[in-house]
Amino acid sequence: MNLARKTMNAPALAAVYEHAWRPSLFWLASGRTTETDRRDAVTSLRLDGNQRVLDIACGPGNFTRYLSNHLNDDGYAIGVDYSTPMLARAVVDNAGPRVGYLRGDARTLPFADGTFDAVCCFGALYLIPDPIAATREMIRVLAPGGRLAISTSFHTDNMFGHTAKAVASLSGLRLFDRDTFPKLFAEEGLVDINQRVHRFLQYVDATRPA
Ligand SMILES: C[S@@+](CC[C@H](N)C(=O)[O-])C[C@H]1O[C@@H](n2cnc3c(N)ncnc32)[C@H](O)[C@@H]1O
Repeated sequence: MNLARKTMNAPALAAVYEHAWRPSLFWLASGRTTETDRRDAVTSLRLDGNQRVLDIACGPGNFTRYLSNHLNDDGYAIGVDYSTPMLARAVVDNAGPRVGYLRGDARTLPFADGTFDAVCCFGALYLIPDPIAATREMIRVLAPGGRLAISTSFHTDNMFGHTAKAVASLSGLRLFDRDTFPKLFAEEGLVDINQRVHRFLQYVDATRPA
């Protein structure tokens, strides 16, 4: 297990992740606040109430519960993560009437094809050993007409970007170029693909055709 994955499994990180670690590191990486990221998640997933939402690599549930607050009727949000300490925090800190948590690996999701109306994965693809397989899994469980949204790392296509990529990889973090996810989404038949880059992070969303 590399350093990045070990860190995500540490109970001490799980305890400070939502209120200290994420707000500060993501602000440095992207210039954006967690509140902005949360609001954009609801908008890009087009949540309007009755959806089945899957939050991959949910950490302590810091997005999962927020997303579930925008659901009603039969809507619900499920967070999946492999880290037991993160899930323990999720259950304590981010429980709710329309939210549940499950331990699992993003690369082999225990759900049938087309189960969810909205699937997201924020701040995690750069940690997952096979991020392309994990992304294909997200698309597999997405229902026709459903929305997919990810946020992950970004490196520029110049010497600075390639150096940053090499340095990050020493700790087990991947930096992705501009094309990887839009191209993969298109190859998998997704449409309405929209990418935004903020410093070292990229946000990409898309629709599975109905
Ligand atoms: C930086 S946290 C992101 C939490 C939250 N999504 C956010 O944006 O703040 C990354 C999470 O990815 C999880 N993770 C990494 N690899 C995973 C995998 N293969 N399957 C499921 N979760 C994974 C880690 O346990 C960790 O909780």
